[in-house]
Amino acid sequence: MGGESRETFGSRLGFIFAAAGSAIGLGNIWRFPYLVGVYGGAAFLVVYLAIVVIIGVVCFISEVALGRHTRQSNVGAFKAIKPSWAPVGLIGIIAGFMILSFYGVVGGWTIYYFFKAIAGFAFPNPGASTDLFVGFISNAISPLIYTAIFMATTIYIVYKGIQDGIEKYSNIMMPALFVIIIILAIRSLTLPGAGAGLEFYLKPDLSKIDGETLLAALGQVFFSLSLGMGSILTYGSYLSQDENIPFVCTIVPMMDTLIAFLAGLVIFPAVFAYGFEPGSGGGLAFITLPAVFNEMPAGNLFGGAFFFLLFLAALTSSISLLEPVVAYMMEEHGWERKKATITMGGLIFVVGIACSLSNGIWSGFIVLDRNIFDLLDFISGNVLLPISGMLTAIFVAWVWGSKNALQEATNDGTIELAWGNLWANVLIKYVAPILIAVVFMSSVGIIKI
Ligand code: TRP
Repeated sequence: MGGESRETFGSRLGFIFAAAGSAIGLGNIWRFPYLVGVYGGAAFLVVYLAIVVIIGVVCFISEVALGRHTRQSNVGAFKAIKPSWAPVGLIGIIAGFMILSFYGVVGGWTIYYFFKAIAGFAFPNPGASTDLFVGFISNAISPLIYTAIFMATTIYIVYKGIQDGIEKYSNIMMPALFVIIIILAIRSLTLPGAGAGLEFYLKPDLSKIDGETLLAALGQVFFSLSLGMGSILTYGSYLSQDENIPFVCTIVPMMDTLIAFLAGLVIFPAVFAYGFEPGSGGGLAFITLPAVFNEMPAGNLFGGAFFFLLFLAALTSSISLLEPVVAYMMEEHGWERKKATITMGGLIFVVGIACSLSNGIWSGFIVLDRNIFDLLDFISGNVLLPISGMLTAIFVAWVWGSKNALQEATNDGTIELAWGNLWANVLIKYVAPILIAVVFMSSVGIIKI
């Protein structure tokens, strides 16, 4: 099992930055603000925060504890406790493979947009922003070049290993990300007319909270905290035995939530200040914002900073998507790290080619009403992640045993966890699996709430 020679994070901060890097990604910077806008502003924020506490932190602790206890990544961790559960780990690996194939394509877009922004968008009219985006992503070749650069960077960092790769680069990229987002938030908040955006973002409309809001918030918590596919479990397996799990598992979700919140403070005031619509969903970051930067004084600097931010966020998440796949090949199939990163990263890129082409020349290839890109997004995000997240919670609570998990999380009771019993007896046993099951069934249309 290679336990003796297993790599570990060099410091607590290294783990925190790496795990926060995994969590903080495209999900925070474009998806969260957009959901806040659609689902009732501050009301959504309150629901989101509650779910982070009730389920997010709960599942986060269980993944880290399981990883650290077994010192194995996804498949091995389940196997070490009960071999018949290994397939649950495999679902996570497959989900990670799928997510990274389209995540890498979007990662490539951030690089292209970074260069475009620096050069100045120079749109003759706002509609030109849509034309630029649609024209770019539907091109057969050029998005692939940027995706290849993004994936090669991801492969390089993962190939360098835990301390010399993931930890070292997270320690540089995460502080940079914090600095950039704060500068951008200040810029946005001081624009004339920023107030309307703030009001939209922060004034609660409680009447908008309904079942759908809850579902959207739950799904977002899962995706944003990187739960359900083994990113966090695998990082936990590199955490040293004397580390304080309750502490790191609280601070990381807090950082993730803070960045998501700040992303909204960057986006909404600027969008409103220049009179754009905030509800464009996926187009918000790549269509609306370029039009905003086009109008803004020194917009090429701020636009460049924004897309660099998006690139950093995407990169620290993509390495956490590749690492479990690589660790799986190393642990279960005895591959060298080098062979595993290059081969699996390469295969993921090949699937990414299909994703990218499905926005253009292959757009006619439709399965379940979706092109390849959206299909992989749907299967991984709406089907595989909730299933493996739910089974992981059940596994930790009922197969491994929540008391054993709590022992691990508290270093055999030497660390105080005030709500430890609530965690072990109620939250991980019942609340988390049941709520995840409800979200899953409604997202695939089995039930309606
Ligand atoms: N959390 C990241 C984001 O917000 C994406 C991500 C990385 C992820 N690893 C994951 C999502 C594992 C689900 C599972 O963009």
